[in-house]
Amino acid sequence: MNQSPGNNKISTAIFISGRGSNLKSLVNFSKKKTSPIHINLIISNTKKAKGLKYADLNKIQKKIINFKKKNSAEKNILNMLNKKKINFICLAGFMKVLSKKFISKFPGKIINIHPSLLPKYKGLNTHLRVLQNNEKFSGCTVHHVNKHIDAGEIIMQKKIKISKNETVNSLSKKILMEEHKLYPKAISKVFLV
Ligand code: GRF
Repeated sequence: MNQSPGNNKISTAIFISGRGSNLKSLVNFSKKKTSPIHINLIISNTKKAKGLKYADLNKIQKKIINFKKKNSAEKNILNMLNKKKINFICLAGFMKVLSKKFISKFPGKIINIHPSLLPKYKGLNTHLRVLQNNEKFSGCTVHHVNKHIDAGEIIMQKKIKISKNETVNSLSKKILMEEHKLYPKAISKVFLV
């Protein structure tokens, strides 16, 4: 596997679209000796993504790619990834669906985090649907990315109990805190650190 110059870590790109709290937790993780990854590139499909500030704060190269034309967007991304010798991709709140062709260029090397106990509650508005169904538990999942949305092989999950009077807001906060711990653990598991 290619490694980034100057260290033994796996050259990694993080794809975001918004707030970037998982990106922040992955950047912190990547700085630890025990982390298998080094973050060399942050990709966003929008310049409005608040998480882009973590690229500036940590001097990580960022690239904003307009997805209006998905084909050329993905070609642009592939060029960037090749230039930076990226061989691992973490999706962290990335709101675009990558094509089968793109995914096939990185077999087993694209992972995602989703705020539910997959295979339950794929897609958007998970917390609302979980509460509407009176579920007793929810959680988060890190999984491999395949051509189907939120359906790739599960790497790790964290289950949490839903409280009485739980709201979408309280549940999303609770799960997000777990996401920040789970994503680094799942990455370590992928590389068997
Ligand atoms: C997280 O809940 C993640 O599970 C989902 O999108 C959200 C992104 O949040 N895929 P953030 O941008 O990492 O703060």
